Amino acid sequence: MNQVDYLRISLIDRCNFRCQYCMPEGAELDYIFKQQLLTDDELLTLIQFVFIPVGFTRFRLTGGEPLLRPRVVELVGAIASLPQTQDLSMTTNGFLLAPLAKSLYNVGLRRINISLDSLDPETFDQIIGNRGRGRWQQVWDGIQAAYRVGFTPLKLNVVVIPGVNDKEILDLAALTIDKQWHVRFIEFMPIGNSQLFGDRGWIASEELRQLIRDRWGLTESQVCGNGPADVFQIPGAKGTLGFISQMSECFCERCNRMRLSADGWLRPCLLNEDAQIDLKTALRSGISTTQLREQVRSLLAIKPEINFKQRDPGNTTGVYTRTMSQIGG
Ligand code: GTP
Ligand code: 5AD
Ligand code: SF4
Repeated sequence: MNQVDYLRISLIDRCNFRCQYCMPEGAELDYIFKQQLLTDDELLTLIQFVFIPVGFTRFRLTGGEPLLRPRVVELVGAIASLPQTQDLSMTTNGFLLAPLAKSLYNVGLRRINISLDSLDPETFDQIIGNRGRGRWQQVWDGIQAAYRVGFTPLKLNVVVIPGVNDKEILDLAALTIDKQWHVRFIEFMPIGNSQLFGDRGWIASEELRQLIRDRWGLTESQVCGNGPADVFQIPGAKGTLGFISQMSECFCERCNRMRLSADGWLRPCLLNEDAQIDLKTALRSGISTTQLREQVRSLLAIKPEINFKQRDPGNTTGVYTRTMSQIGG
């Protein structure tokens, strides 16, 4: 069994974008009330006295959009300075990143993943939804700022959407040739958004690899990371290409992570709505951290039986009620 030592921590469920694949139009979103969010102190208590002692040492901060969390820089600094934190990273949409990149780096964040679904500002606006007008440039500035500051590896996430951004695969892949940028193509997951792209919801990673192979060739490669990407490289390129293929090549057997929602629910799997524990209520009711550790250990023990395929074999139509923004991506 894989060691489960990677915790994805959602800092907030809100987002300043409304990406179609993540928060489809018309989706009912019940935002978490402020009082229900884990406070900074509660989160740090859980990390330091519950998660680290049971073996978690790698943390990724997600959202919604994590940079919307008040005092995010201080919180990042506090997690980074825990001696047992071996790896701390963040997944952001990049919109608020430019002015924050240096401070985040200075408090100890070293790697960052940024969503960039298109190089074309109009397509970008279309993807990020009704709140998007002219936002591409600000995201691009955020990426450049993160690069200048020295985040490494710097990864760019592309959810591939048939008929929308699939014509840009080669242009996006080409970003890795001259710069040490790591572009990852993600198969679209029908979570809370099954009707979105009609019959052909996702494009298999192998199809994309073939396209890239035909143009430049492609070799296996590596880049630092804890996630499910299979990593390749255009021969001679400075950066790499990752493929996240949860639809065509289920990677659940190598799952190494759990998820903590912004309101303190610990989920053993992206898709599991049943086996989850409410750490915030337990913490607020005065349960000791020793008991909380036992609860987390019990969840770890049953984790191997819970995964994407076993829970919903071959699901490509989507029966999920929560959106990705609510789960934390
Ligand atoms: P690295 O440590 O850099 O490898 O990070 P990562 O790839 O784990 O993080 P990121 O937040 O950038 O996630 C990239 C994509 O992988 C997103 O679309 C996530 O939803 C997806 N992903 C991450 N973990 C899981 C998982 O457990 N199951 C599934 N199905 N998808 C996941
Ligand atoms: N399918 C695949 N990836 C998704 N993400 C959000 N929604 C989906 C989905 N339905 C990705 C975002 C971001 C990461 C946290 O999750 O692009 O990079
Ligand atoms: Fe926001 Fe990220 Fe979801 Fe887009 S994918 S709506 S940026 S949480």
